[in-house]
Amino acid sequence: MLAAEATLQATPQATKHGLAAGDAAKPERADWTIDQGWEKYTPAQHAVWKTLFERQTQLLPGRACDEFVEGMKNLPIGADEIPDFRRLSDVLMQRTGWQVVAVPGLVPDEVFFEHLANRRFPSGQFIRGADQLDYLEEPDVFHDVFGHVPMLMNPAIADYIQAYGVGGLRAKELGVLDKLARVYWYTVEFGLVQQKDGLRIYGAGIASSRTESVFALDDASPNRIAFDLERVMRTHYRIDDFQESYFVIENLDRLLELASIDFGPLYARIDGQPEFQPGDVLPTDAVISRGTGRYHQA
Ligand SMILES: [Fe+2]
Repeated sequence: MLAAEATLQATPQATKHGLAAGDAAKPERADWTIDQGWEKYTPAQHAVWKTLFERQTQLLPGRACDEFVEGMKNLPIGADEIPDFRRLSDVLMQRTGWQVVAVPGLVPDEVFFEHLANRRFPSGQFIRGADQLDYLEEPDVFHDVFGHVPMLMNPAIADYIQAYGVGGLRAKELGVLDKLARVYWYTVEFGLVQQKDGLRIYGAGIASSRTESVFALDDASPNRIAFDLERVMRTHYRIDDFQESYFVIENLDRLLELASIDFGPLYARIDGQPEFQPGDVLPTDAVISRGTGRYHQA
């Protein structure tokens, strides 16, 4: 997630982390990393992880893409305890040259991009409370590790997310970060991929959510539309609820192609063009299934 989302999602009663917690919580290091402090997690925190892990693991067969399943299988991630980032990094480093680093929560955009550009995945150190299993405003260790890290075992995603970091630093300078952030949102966070037995989840925002991993694939309400880069760059997204539209890539190698595109001319071309609302379906869309829109109407 991006820092800008945090302010929009803020509610006063919840404990905030990282950037959302304000200046007082700013970490000592310039790159916002902290020690994971794995030894300090309590039995109750490991138990929250276990609950989340077990119910997602039950739900995801036949829903998560093959690459997610494969990545999970080869990582030291299990039900019994919150994973230790040092052990995750050992395995990831060998596979795709990535590491997982702990951060207190959301971090400023440029810090986030700088990490990604250097193949470091910033993961929230904290875990949600037992009373927040289904809804969380900020990315915690379950979202970041369970949702994102298995995909980082895949070489295409590994290169794509690094390229996103490099592109993010540039987009920030050019003042077009909102356009690029939509690409990340509709791929890395909420992407679906066509596989031989049907649509599958590869987006971490879906894979780490019990309710959305059902809604995204099975519900009649959302649109499922073939991914088109310029179209997505012009499309707003929802940060407070399920998506109204999901964009579908034909395979993960498509992301590698995206990683090698020069976005400069694209930003120029879409500058001043009309933007689309999350639920819009356009005459030019290749629609895989048109949603009823019922969920968001209600
Ligand atoms: Fe995420």
